[in-house]
Amino acid sequence: MRSGPVTLLLSAFLCATGCSDSGGEGETGGAGATSGTAGTTGGTGGATGVTSGVTSGTGGATGVTSGVTSGTGGATSVASGSGGAGGGTGGAGGAEARVPAASASTMREAGEKANPPILIGAAISGSGLNDNGYKSVAAAEHNYVTAENEMKWNAVEPNAGQFSWGAADNIVNWAVSNRMQVKGHTLVWHNQLPGWASSLSGAAQVEQAMRRHIEGVMGHFKDRVHTWDVVNEAVLTDSDTGVGNPRMRPSVFFNALGEGFLDLAFEIAREQDPTAKLYYNDYSIDALNEKADFVYEMVKGMVERGVPIDGVGFQMHIGPPNNEAGGADVAANLRRFSDLGLEVLISEMDINRCSNQVTAEEQLAYYHDIVEACFQLPKCVGITFWGINDGRSWLNGWSGALCNGQSSQSLLFTDQYQKKETYNKVLDALLGR
Ligand code: G3I
Repeated sequence: MRSGPVTLLLSAFLCATGCSDSGGEGETGGAGATSGTAGTTGGTGGATGVTSGVTSGTGGATGVTSGVTSGTGGATSVASGSGGAGGGTGGAGGAEARVPAASASTMREAGEKANPPILIGAAISGSGLNDNGYKSVAAAEHNYVTAENEMKWNAVEPNAGQFSWGAADNIVNWAVSNRMQVKGHTLVWHNQLPGWASSLSGAAQVEQAMRRHIEGVMGHFKDRVHTWDVVNEAVLTDSDTGVGNPRMRPSVFFNALGEGFLDLAFEIAREQDPTAKLYYNDYSIDALNEKADFVYEMVKGMVERGVPIDGVGFQMHIGPPNNEAGGADVAANLRRFSDLGLEVLISEMDINRCSNQVTAEEQLAYYHDIVEACFQLPKCVGITFWGINDGRSWLNGWSGALCNGQSSQSLLFTDQYQKKETYNKVLDALLGR
């Protein structure tokens, strides 16, 4: 694991506050992996129905297992080898370890041929779809789409009860026509709310607006969108790195309804679609830190109360102003959430190089090791990158990212849509290398 300055500071802080993120409690790779037994079909709690099905490895089981791991806090077992014949229909529940494809020339192919398969996603912007180079790389390399802004509350319900679907439909229809799944992002979030929604108050008014919004949006996309970020970023810490006084974030929803707004949002979403995958999504909960601990307890409570939550999205914005997170810590963190019976996913990955807080070498190691951590966990059902090419990254223009007019160099493709070294590291990890 590489430790950037933020990680080191974070570790020191965590030790000082008595959290254990190293050594001690680490489960050693235990479960090992009996791969080569692929071909299980749709185990319970399976991966989010991959449309493209799977035709993973033909060629008999070499199923080499190398239950490697551990190290600090580390919890992953590694399975390599080309799996047995068959390939299932997208179940994550039955397999003990994900088996990589023997070869693949795109990330999408590597994800679809893995057993169980893993979704490879990108945040897509409406303006990007006006660019043929962008469109062709996006569709060739990914099979999972998150609209970067176009499905947010201010975009789809700019006026109370009046919905506006044009930009969102454009992205969703493009995705469907390219056999890509879509994750609806996001139903209930304190940010990018239209003015009228931000100024709501009182439990009855807020609940009514939240219900109308969830029902309206999920209803419109019901036949095309089967996974949703139901609640986004409901937890706050003093630092954006996930450290300091974790607590529920004040918002129009929390202020009116208390913490129960989460349960309510998921219950309304479940009423609207009994089979959709419903996720909680947040940033700087990627490794083992105070915010991640807080979210873990929050989500555990939801599971224990029978709230219909299916999984947690770990945004994985690495570098300033968010956390840094090494592969072993990410692996341990993802595993503890998946041990609650939940799917986990990397939902918005990018690694910001601005201000050189993350060096080029660290960026490559993070890309490889973090993708590997998800890949090795069958209940990690997808990895979404927050954009396609560096020039379009949200980080470039946001002061908190410390770019000062420079490129964040945060993604996998150049502005001419050439693969970067970061891409090669990701593909390596998806192929078990
Ligand atoms: O569309 C308006 C345009 O009309 C206006 O002229 C222009 C002037 O500022 O703003 C445009 O809106 C911008 C919008 O992106 C679309 O480009 C907003 O200012 C800008 O704040 C907004 O930023 C988005 C940000 O969410 C808002 O919080 C980023 O593109 C988007 O990548 C980012 O995505 C979030 C996820 O949804 C949740 N997790 C964190 C992630 C990164 O912040």
